[in-house]
Amino acid sequence: MGKLDGRVFVISGAARGQGAEEARLFVSEGAKVVLGDVLVEQGERVAAGLGGDVACCVRLDVREEADWQAAARVAVERFGKVGGLVNNAGILRFNALADTPVAEFREVVDVNQTGCFLGMKTLAPYIERAGGGTIVNTSSYAGLTGMTFLTAYAASKAAVVGMTRVAALELAGRGVRVNAVCPGAIDTPMTNPAAAADAGLPLGDEGARDAAGADPAAMDAFYAKLVPQGRMGRPEEVARLVLFLSCADSSYVTGQPFVVDGGWLAGVSVV
Ligand SMILES: NC(=O)c1ccc[n+]([C@@H]2O[C@H](COP(=O)([O-])OP(=O)(O)OC[C@H]3O[C@@H](n4cnc5c(N)ncnc54)[C@H](O)[C@@H]3O)[C@@H](O)[C@H]2O)c1
Repeated sequence: MGKLDGRVFVISGAARGQGAEEARLFVSEGAKVVLGDVLVEQGERVAAGLGGDVACCVRLDVREEADWQAAARVAVERFGKVGGLVNNAGILRFNALADTPVAEFREVVDVNQTGCFLGMKTLAPYIERAGGGTIVNTSSYAGLTGMTFLTAYAASKAAVVGMTRVAALELAGRGVRVNAVCPGAIDTPMTNPAAAADAGLPLGDEGARDAAGADPAAMDAFYAKLVPQGRMGRPEEVARLVLFLSCADSSYVTGQPFVVDGGWLAGVSVV
């Protein structure tokens, strides 16, 4: 008996990183999943690994309302309904406030904030028709506290928390629970050295992996100075929180952000 038996989910940004782990965990708990991503070949490989009877991949650019509608149609055609959504797709850009080009700010908001909005807007009626279900949005610890060089990202992730609360209020009476996860530093392609180098990344940010720190042990050593638990998080550790918020274990929980960060946001440590 799986925790998600009989459920059908759309997971955005599921071609790699946390989204791919969420798809794997959800299938292992009995769900059927539609993986949506702009990285279609990678997404198709993940879906094929899960099995064509329980998973498929669609091209989904979360900024495009028509893509969301198409993803919903595919879910209904393949698996009969949509009973849940994980809004996971996101992008990260680093820049000092005064150096942030407006195009970059809008790009980040478009993917992280508008994409989340469109996912909820499009799929909530499907989830209601399926008899109720869940939406889990992906914010960030940067959505709850300030962090240098992340004006656009922090704005978009704080907006995700705000939208989560409003959606939970509006959808509670329709059997749809809406929560958000706020990961800390998680070891995924988003935090890779190439991305950091491209951005001329100063250490101390969400993607703070210096060029020499490609190996996970070195990254853990870096984060040991910042994170009480002494290491980066793993995508499966975020996926398990998303599972909790997507299954009946959290049946009386809605409208809240949940931090998964190894204690980073707990306060100031002097040990
Ligand atoms: N890794 C971290 O440290 C961290 C921390 C806090 C929050 N997050 C958030 O977690 C989520 C997952 O990130 P990740 O760490 O797995 O990163 P990732 O870069 O590995 O995965 C993000 C996925 O989103 C997809 N994506 C990007 N733009 C898209 C678009 N327009 N439409 C559809 N898909 C798109 C990418 O192709 C990719 O598959 C993101 O929302 C990210 O902001 C990550």
